[in-house]
Amino acid sequence: MRTHSALAVGLLVLFSAAQAEAREQDFNRGWKFHRGDPADAQQVVFDDFAWQDVRTPHDWAIAGPFDPNGDGGTGKLPWRGVGWYRKWLMLDRREEGSQVYLDFDGVMASPRVYVNGELAGEWDYGYTPFRVDITRHVRFGRANVVAVRVDTTRLYSRWYPGAGIYRQVELVVSPPLHLSHHGTQITTPTISDDEAVVVVASELENHQAKNRDAEVVVRLVGPDGAVASESAESVEVVAHDKAVVEHRFRLADPRRWDVDDPALYTAQTELRVAGHTVERRETRFGVREFAFTPDDGFWLNGRRVQIRGVNLHHDLGPLGAAFNRRAAERQLDIMQEMGVNALRTAHNPPAQEVLDLCDERGIVVWDELFDKWDGTAGRVDGEPGFDGFMQRHAASLVRRDRNHPSVVVWSVGNEIGNQPYDAEGKSRERLRTARDAFRVHDTSRPVALGCFIPQTADSDILADLDLTGWNYQRRYARFRDRFPQTPILYSETASALSTRGWYELPLPNSKCDYPSVPQVNAYEFSSAPWSDLAEVEFERLRKDSYLAGEFVWTGFDYLGEPTPFPSQARSSYFGIVDLVGLPKDRYYLYRSHWRPDVPTVHLAPHWNWSGLEGVGVPVTVYTNGDSAELFLNGRSLGVRNKGERPAALEDLAASASATASTHADGRPAGDALAAGQGRGWRPEPDDPSPVFEVDLREPRPLRTIVLEFPKESKLYGLRVEASDDGEAWETLFAKRASLEPRWGGVNELIVRTDATAQRLRVVFGPCLEGASPSLDRFAAYADDFESEYYLPTYDYRLRWNEVPYEPGELRAVAYKDGQEIGSTSVRTAGPPARLALTPDRAEIVSDGEDVSFITVSAVDADGNVCPLADNALALSLVGPGRIAGADAGDPLSVDPLQDNRVSLFHGQAVIVVRADEGLGGNLSLRVSTPGLPEASVLLSAGRPAE
Ligand code: GAL
Repeated sequence: MRTHSALAVGLLVLFSAAQAEAREQDFNRGWKFHRGDPADAQQVVFDDFAWQDVRTPHDWAIAGPFDPNGDGGTGKLPWRGVGWYRKWLMLDRREEGSQVYLDFDGVMASPRVYVNGELAGEWDYGYTPFRVDITRHVRFGRANVVAVRVDTTRLYSRWYPGAGIYRQVELVVSPPLHLSHHGTQITTPTISDDEAVVVVASELENHQAKNRDAEVVVRLVGPDGAVASESAESVEVVAHDKAVVEHRFRLADPRRWDVDDPALYTAQTELRVAGHTVERRETRFGVREFAFTPDDGFWLNGRRVQIRGVNLHHDLGPLGAAFNRRAAERQLDIMQEMGVNALRTAHNPPAQEVLDLCDERGIVVWDELFDKWDGTAGRVDGEPGFDGFMQRHAASLVRRDRNHPSVVVWSVGNEIGNQPYDAEGKSRERLRTARDAFRVHDTSRPVALGCFIPQTADSDILADLDLTGWNYQRRYARFRDRFPQTPILYSETASALSTRGWYELPLPNSKCDYPSVPQVNAYEFSSAPWSDLAEVEFERLRKDSYLAGEFVWTGFDYLGEPTPFPSQARSSYFGIVDLVGLPKDRYYLYRSHWRPDVPTVHLAPHWNWSGLEGVGVPVTVYTNGDSAELFLNGRSLGVRNKGERPAALEDLAASASATASTHADGRPAGDALAAGQGRGWRPEPDDPSPVFEVDLREPRPLRTIVLEFPKESKLYGLRVEASDDGEAWETLFAKRASLEPRWGGVNELIVRTDATAQRLRVVFGPCLEGASPSLDRFAAYADDFESEYYLPTYDYRLRWNEVPYEPGELRAVAYKDGQEIGSTSVRTAGPPARLALTPDRAEIVSDGEDVSFITVSAVDADGNVCPLADNALALSLVGPGRIAGADAGDPLSVDPLQDNRVSLFHGQAVIVVRADEGLGGNLSLRVSTPGLPEASVLLSAGRPAE
């Protein structure tokens, strides 16, 4: 009898669970967190009372503290270690019989998910989403404990990875027959102006012991919100199995998703079982056609679109890796304002919301799975199980992301190290495995790789890819020659470097002539040794018109990888904007090139050079005009035109005679002079002390001596000496051979001097890495010679190289085709008189997530930003909210990012204010600093719309 009734109740419950509607619930509130690895933290009975209350997304390391001696490569933050999260989960008794899942969009790293003390699931990559089926472990009608152990101890990363449950978590309670997780796939196999065929494939799974019939209804809703089409299909799903049901639509007059008009359709899917609706899902999609062509770049909806993209890492500056939708949206706002139409998610899948934003904004996306396939993917290279690993994560990425119209490329990885060296051809095999792992779940997009070793093109390793991306220095050229049918996208360009507002005189001699202070000159003359200035890349893209476009490294500065100061700094110098989104001058260079539609006129540097009165200060106008006139205190300093390159200086060595200690192949030393046409000088290999000497025929005042070598100049040890009589020699310059900077450099060496001399010589010392004493070119100038490397800057910027400094106003008026398009000015700022606070949004939503970014500037009595101000600010917030982060973009700062203080850097800082979840109200941010009046700004936080 008892058995009977229990069975009856069980059946009843099952019956109702099968008919109850699936629910998805935000599972981000109410977590307890502990940094450390206490025993038994997964158990139900465990005292977590003292643990920290957190809400996910959460990054346990971003609040610091920074370790000044820590690894700059990963941001000097305490991300390495173990942490635990615990949270209660209540399930209604009436839900018994349901399937229960936890969906994590990303956990860094190696999460193990326990429910009621039992291990329910684990995952082996920090950047891909995963689902844990906790059905077997939960008890209905009772409280359950979810515990997540997170372990980053084995993780290797080339940037700041963050730590913890750093993306959204969702609880899904589904009837036993339900739509599969990420199981909807929408494709548009044919598209014309009149009609698009839309196929909606829905995967269902049946967790019951008997076959079930279901009906799937799909409704397509247009960008205008009107239902465009509807259809219903029936399907039988076998017990404990899956089935796919397909709906085919003919959509009349489809509106295309485009970068200019990101029109989105929605597929509303309804699952009906026994006449009851048990699940509803909305999936957005777009109707668009695109192609990467081998010879003519990227085509979208029948026209060529040049990809003007940026690479972005996943951290959000002072908010760290903890995903925040508004912070990501602001990043895209800032990038789009500059002209960006594309994003490469370097080097991992982004948070799912990033793709929603790109869909809504018309940004095309290169969606990348891995950086390397070794430690950064959480694996030991060469360890078994590669195929399964690749298949698991490709499935996770593609199934989540394949309906986003913004995504146009799948990337299997970046700079996979072993490509060219794998004699067994395993690399090609692996790339094919990777490609196929993507194709299982989507064949509508090309599968690519971010490549970096030109020699890879000599083998067939890359032959199976649909598209190749190439990083830097025209390395794609060799591949292009050998595989002219494979389209190419320049996946990393520039890696230019600068510190916002940090101008130094004189200008650097070469792109990797970095100051000894660990900052990079803001004049935008620097790049990583293995890469180039923006303009050098613009020229490549102009000439190699087959390229689909570029992704600049990087749009924003990010935590970690502070090339060229890997041990001193905590954040990068690569960004076009700094860590908090304040633009460097490069921002206006890209904007002027990428946005011909709106006038850009920007002047640099600042005009506060006290102590340098009368000294020539280089001034640059960044504009999309073709010329500009510069005025200093009302006096014209002349007009500059784009493309007007400076006249060549007289090379004093061109008419000189050259001798040398020895000559290989009988070639005269004069071959290294201008007349030698680049043949260069080579001593005999056994020359014990190679010396190259030039006689200028009479004593000449000198400013610049230029040496060019067959390899990077860093590899040569040498002295440059001067003499009038050939007897007494004075050393003008000496250097040892060095391997710094790593990975590249320049072959040219520019020596500045004030000497007057008739004879000059280069005395070689030991050289490194196969370099031997030799010169390709020797030149000498009476004036400051600027490397020819910088000539393209004259085609994209307007440069006045020596404006004698006097305080006052510098003003630029820009013209296009003779018409004025705009003007701008910078003024010498007086001492800071007050703090100006400018919120990006004064009204935010009190949902516990929304944030306002407030820029603080120190301004003088006339409102000019004080470009050298570095005041330490104390912050306080009154009202229902908190200071979520603050920073000023100084790569060297090790002040905490989430604190009630921040120091201005070059006059500015950004403070992030978050409204608490609740009723909202007024938030007053107050900022004070000694000697200036307290400043405040009022924000209003309102309840989220129902
Ligand atoms: C690339 C690499 C990027 C970043 C960049 C810096 O080679 O793919 O992740 O390290 O260099 O220039």
